[in-house]
Amino acid sequence: MCGIVGYIGKREAEPILVEGLRRLEYRGYDSAGIATLTGPHLHLRKRAGRSADLARFLGEKPAPGHHGISHTRWATHGPANDTNAHPHLSTDGSIAVVHNGVIENYSALKRQLQAEGIVFYSETDTEVIAHLVEQHYKGDLVEAVRAVLNLLKGTYGIAVVSTNHPDLLVGARLGSPLVVGIGEEENFVASDPTALMGNTQRVVYLQDNQMCVLRPGNWHILDANHARIDATVHRIDWDPGDAEKGDFEHHMLKEIYEQPEALENAMRGRLSDEDCSAHFGGLNLDACALRRAERFIFTACGTSYHAALVGEYLFEEFARIPVEVEYASELRYRNPPMERNTIVLAITQSGETADTLAALRESKRKGHHTLALCNVVSSTIARETDGGVYLHAGPEIGVASTKAFSNQVAVLTMLALYMGRMRNLSSLQGSRMIKEIRALPDIVRRTLQCHDQVKEIAQKYHQVSNMLYLGRQYLFPAALEGALKLKEISYIHAEGYPAAEMKHGPIALVDENTPSVFLIPSGGVADKVMSNLEEIKARGGPVIAIAPEGDDELAKHVLSRADEVVFVPQMPDYLQPLVAVVPLQLLAYHIALLRGCDVDKPRNLAKSVTVE
Ligand code: F6R
Repeated sequence: MCGIVGYIGKREAEPILVEGLRRLEYRGYDSAGIATLTGPHLHLRKRAGRSADLARFLGEKPAPGHHGISHTRWATHGPANDTNAHPHLSTDGSIAVVHNGVIENYSALKRQLQAEGIVFYSETDTEVIAHLVEQHYKGDLVEAVRAVLNLLKGTYGIAVVSTNHPDLLVGARLGSPLVVGIGEEENFVASDPTALMGNTQRVVYLQDNQMCVLRPGNWHILDANHARIDATVHRIDWDPGDAEKGDFEHHMLKEIYEQPEALENAMRGRLSDEDCSAHFGGLNLDACALRRAERFIFTACGTSYHAALVGEYLFEEFARIPVEVEYASELRYRNPPMERNTIVLAITQSGETADTLAALRESKRKGHHTLALCNVVSSTIARETDGGVYLHAGPEIGVASTKAFSNQVAVLTMLALYMGRMRNLSSLQGSRMIKEIRALPDIVRRTLQCHDQVKEIAQKYHQVSNMLYLGRQYLFPAALEGALKLKEISYIHAEGYPAAEMKHGPIALVDENTPSVFLIPSGGVADKVMSNLEEIKARGGPVIAIAPEGDDELAKHVLSRADEVVFVPQMPDYLQPLVAVVPLQLLAYHIALLRGCDVDKPRNLAKSVTVE
């Protein structure tokens, strides 16, 4: 989603701003722009399309100066075109603003400004901010911005510069992340620390209702009352190399291949042979309080929601605690009756998803203890939750989530073990689970060997228009995730269903052009899933089966019925989603490639959805 980068210092601003935007590309956007200052001159360059289009334009018409702001826009108000791209200017052209978030009262403000004779050039909500800052400006830019913030309803992360202040950059945040980067005789602002990699490792995360005031040699943070505060400077310890593609053609493929190592990182130091359990440092809940928990609500969006569904099976089987899984976008506006001892667990890669954040805040407001599983360190959700667990998946740049999903499921598995050991799991059961969980990274490594076979299957099916993904029990959420991966990066319509549910409607879609991907479990309901597979075959539907190795009888049966079979290592049912998801990720990846899609930056999507 939208990205902000700002710079003030002694170096040329343009390359820093453009490189920062390039680093934010993974978030998803559809236009980009930059404004720099040289004395009283403001240089504005904007282009619909990719940051490379903007960079080309800058090649023809550079933006000089040591001071400026830049932005990648994900269209909300008005289409993606040059005019609606940020920055937006005040009428006199002295003030430039970039903005992430949504100004909910912008149409009322716009009408008011238009009645006063102000002409608007764009359809964006952001332009009102530029005009309002000009109206309130009486020689003090910080004061003018502060006055305008009081008029805005909605969410914002903004950065503002003015030709009247060649040594000043002002930022502010409410509900949309902003971080200050601190350098030597230079300072930065960005919506995501990734943009600052290579320039500084020292950052200050702005809190809601705070402003930052940056000059080349100094900076300070103001609170809601306009008082200076002592801000904590954090050190970013991610290696900039992590965010590069290395030898891989796409971030998504690199991240699929990083899953074994990411899983090792998620487990490191968290499994205890002595207690036959797992340990977590940041839950901020003692064992007694956890034992008192009567119910969990897991809340999340998209892929994280699918991980939550796996978590529901895990918690109910091992911890014997009732769990409800709620879309965060629904939970935030519902008012479900929740017992006092309900813990709300938010699951999120980015830690910035607007709906998940709102659901978490609403739960806190009602007095529930909140926990979060987050990947991005110091993200808003990580900071606002009462306690939580980091996923340690490393930066996930591909818009389609892969390794974060695996680590979410792995952490949920360890949490289920921890909760289970407090309740009804014996030490023997705990030890067995630890052994099985520890085997996962190598098993996933081995699963990746299916890559070439999956690539061939993609060749055969990449021209279809519809696909079904079917699984049961633990493999049902994996089916949902496989379908989501396919539709988001290849734009093929795909649906995930519990395999037996398919008879209640979706089976009407089955014909010789609609393949079904079947996720076959190793025990339990394997026979039932095979019957569902037969029902599809009987109607002429092609079947791609993902089946466990090691059961000759089952293997023979699957081979005789399915059109394609990818054998994957066999794990206990509760860990099988982490194995089955690998061929599904690879299938989506190769089908998307063959259809000429931009795998890392699918159309209309954003990596972190910071608007409602
Ligand atoms: C799909 C995908 C999205 C995210 C969703 C939630 O591949 O990545 O569906 O899972 O937008 O994002 P987070 O986990 O950052 O809250």
